[in-house]
Amino acid sequence: MLKLAINRPDDMHLHLRDGDILKHVINYSARDYGRAIIMPNLVPPITTVEMAMAYRNRILDAIDPNLAFDPLMTLYLTEHTTIRTLQMAADTPFMFGVKLYPAGATTNSDSGVMDIWRVIPLLERMAALDIPLLVHGEVVDPAIDIFDREAVFIDKVLDPVRREIPDLRIVLEHVTTKDGIDYVYASNKNLYATLTIHHLILNRNALLAGGIRPHYYCLPVLKREIHRRALRRAATSGDQRFFLGTDSAPHLSHMKENACGCAGVFSAANSLGCLATVFEEEKALEHLNSFTSVNGAFFYGLKVNPDKTHLVRKSEPAHFPKKVAIGQHDITVFDPGFPIFWHIDRNRDVFEIENNSL
Ligand code: NCD
Ligand code: ZN
Repeated sequence: MLKLAINRPDDMHLHLRDGDILKHVINYSARDYGRAIIMPNLVPPITTVEMAMAYRNRILDAIDPNLAFDPLMTLYLTEHTTIRTLQMAADTPFMFGVKLYPAGATTNSDSGVMDIWRVIPLLERMAALDIPLLVHGEVVDPAIDIFDREAVFIDKVLDPVRREIPDLRIVLEHVTTKDGIDYVYASNKNLYATLTIHHLILNRNALLAGGIRPHYYCLPVLKREIHRRALRRAATSGDQRFFLGTDSAPHLSHMKENACGCAGVFSAANSLGCLATVFEEEKALEHLNSFTSVNGAFFYGLKVNPDKTHLVRKSEPAHFPKKVAIGQHDITVFDPGFPIFWHIDRNRDVFEIENNSL
């Protein structure tokens, strides 16, 4: 039996939604993570510090009182964001970044930025205030093939912005291509990247070969095997520029099993076991702690969580729910396609999420 102790992890890219869904998903994250960077793409989007504070309070209210979890809030950048809002964000201890969604790139991104050059003064102010820019790195030009949108974004948007504002600290969120990984490696400062678990485990065949699998549809879309291999090498390298952001993004199952299905994979319920399996396969378990618990904290200027999470590899697969009930509907949990033998011993009474798993 293999045993491993890591510092309590942080999830540096998480969608929690609001209302009923928030209440049903939050404790999966709060159980396994000390903190998470909370994405602001609600309807309407979180565009002010007041909205972020109210949302943060709704999140805190939904957390099981036995769990300790700190939501690290972000703002949704629009072409109407004001310097005053950025100043307020810089002065507010629970604010940790500003998210750039190119308008139309992904779920609830309609209010995002249409022309990056219109927000340059805002980005300059963010650099001066040391507010990180968190980037959804895809262009939306319909003429660009969906599998090329990350590489084109790097060439046409990210690289020019970094040349213009070299002091801006940037996270290329959910990087999915070898091009993205190579670009991060080539930069000598201020560029970091989060990686999801599903992009480490699946390539685009899982989505499209032998039938379309809507629960594997997410944005940026799954890529070729050569990209998955590059992501795995980077994630398991221990390099401090790469850290975990699950991009766990719950949608009701029927909205994904649809003629026009929503993008997003809900991985919060089994993320750590999946990740330990990846690191074991890559013979890199010694770097798991850097990826889950150290590199992200370092980027955001936080102390590493002092308490430990114990992972134990058993001969029996771990149990996790296939679906999480939401009233008459449900959310489908990420299926990695293999049994997970890593069990999370959370160093406390095993916490069961009540009435929640089907
Ligand atoms: C995310 C969502 O559903 O909010 N979807 C996704 O496929 N990743 C948005 C995002 O991060 O792109
Ligand atoms: Zn996301």
